[in-house]
Amino acid sequence: MKTKTILLNAVVAAAGAALLAGCASAPSASIPTAAELDAQAAAMHKASFRAQGIAKLDRIQQDLGQAACSSEKPPSEDVAKRVEAEALATIKWPTGGQYLGDWRIGETLAQDGRGMAWNNSSTDPKDNGGQCYNCHEIDKKEISYGNIGPSLWNYGKIRGVKDVTDPAAAPIVQYTWGKLWNSKAYSACSNMPRMGHMKLLNEEQIRHIMALLLDPKSPVNQ
Ligand code: HEC
Repeated sequence: MKTKTILLNAVVAAAGAALLAGCASAPSASIPTAAELDAQAAAMHKASFRAQGIAKLDRIQQDLGQAACSSEKPPSEDVAKRVEAEALATIKWPTGGQYLGDWRIGETLAQDGRGMAWNNSSTDPKDNGGQCYNCHEIDKKEISYGNIGPSLWNYGKIRGVKDVTDPAAAPIVQYTWGKLWNSKAYSACSNMPRMGHMKLLNEEQIRHIMALLLDPKSPVNQ
């Protein structure tokens, strides 16, 4: 018992001394700067991930928009405009101006959540789904869907699209393609995956999703 008390006192005394020493040297150069702390945090973050399967470490490299939109303050208007302009420039417009595919395939893709997991066999867009239902309501028949994004029910109908080849429909058709290709083109800090830009969906798959949203015959527009 006595030994224990002595030991304890010694520990308390040592801790006190350390604390005093700490106080005495408080304003010294040993306090890390904000930049050093950032570097330490970045190194710790990097070390906590490992590459596995198709998931490589390039996934933790932030680009301009991701970095600007995940810092403490939202990006300045200038930075947001730059992110949007750079995103707009990445959009690959459809070959031969062919915007629409088959809404039936689009419907399957929109409800398909496969892809990009470490244990998927490839990063090929053909092995990925669109995962739209994770964030959007698409069809009134759905049992469950996410609501981080607006409902896409009646997407074309609400916007008055009766014929996608009608020049009056061109602005909404083009915007929808661009939004699917790179959502940050229209909203710097969009939470929506950049389907075309990040190679989550290919051009043909985006055409099918476009038909799901805009074809007057699609179940979305009934
Ligand atoms: C991780 C969530 C998420 C996923 C997955 C997602 N979206 Fe979005 N989407 C959003 C959010 C949030 C918005 C609204 C904010 C913005 O503009 O980015 C949005 C906006 C949109 C818009 C623009 C709506 C408007 O009225 O301007 C369209 C169209 C759209 N999404 C279609 C889709 C389709 C089709 C898919 C599947 C291929 C999809 N989204 C997948 C989150 C998502």
